[in-house]
Amino acid sequence: AEHFSDTVSLRGKKVLVTAAGTREPIDPVRYIGNRSSGKMGYALAEEAARRGASVVLVSGPSVLKASDGIRLIKIETAMQMREAVKKEFIDSDITIKAAAVADYRASSIAENKIKKDSSTLTLILEKNPDILFELGQIKQKNQILVGFAAETQNLLEFAKIKLHKKNLDYIIANDVTAPNAGFNTDTNIVKIIDRNGVCEDFPLLRKDLLAKIILDKITTLPKI
Ligand code: CTP
Ligand code: CA
Repeated sequence: AEHFSDTVSLRGKKVLVTAAGTREPIDPVRYIGNRSSGKMGYALAEEAARRGASVVLVSGPSVLKASDGIRLIKIETAMQMREAVKKEFIDSDITIKAAAVADYRASSIAENKIKKDSSTLTLILEKNPDILFELGQIKQKNQILVGFAAETQNLLEFAKIKLHKKNLDYIIANDVTAPNAGFNTDTNIVKIIDRNGVCEDFPLLRKDLLAKIILDKITTLPKI
């Protein structure tokens, strides 16, 4: 598929992107993680940089490399991501949260490696703060905030709820159960939904092309 458009320059704009999954430690050698590779977030950061933006990429662990022009802030946990993102958000024009943030972290991290002493092991987890929700609360009128929704059912309905609850300009909804879509793939199938409930459906596309489409969409907003 080809996508034609007049590319809007992002020169002078700050674009903040989050990517990859967070890791929540449970002891000195183990963590709770997820299958996010960072491919979508890194593709968005690269495309924004290509369009002239000043790009900050806050990333969980990933094998991917960022171009020289991109300011990369590496973090591990959701709490570290929150701290970095909230600082960078203040003067950001466009913020896109592609990261797969762990919803829960261990209530306490064992000081020593947990031994296999018992036949079952129960971990107590507590909810992480919703970073995107917090950004939506402090968002100024001229700031653009875009989130992702990873769903396995009721895609459109659940994504729309997140869009409004988190005060987003767009939400990119992806059905993570579709083949070749979602976590750790080079391609994805998404719907882009705006605040008026208008939903655009895309076929299976490479994540680098999707990055262009998402930035094209964002730059149609009057506040850019
Ligand atoms: N997100 C976030 N902080 C969290 C959890 C999620 O900033 N603690 C962001 C993600 O980066 C994504 C969006 O919120 O842009 C939606 O994430 P998703 O996991 O789909 O939704 P949740 O709100 O976490 O709800 P649930 O997992 O229960 O569906
Ligand atoms: Ca979640």
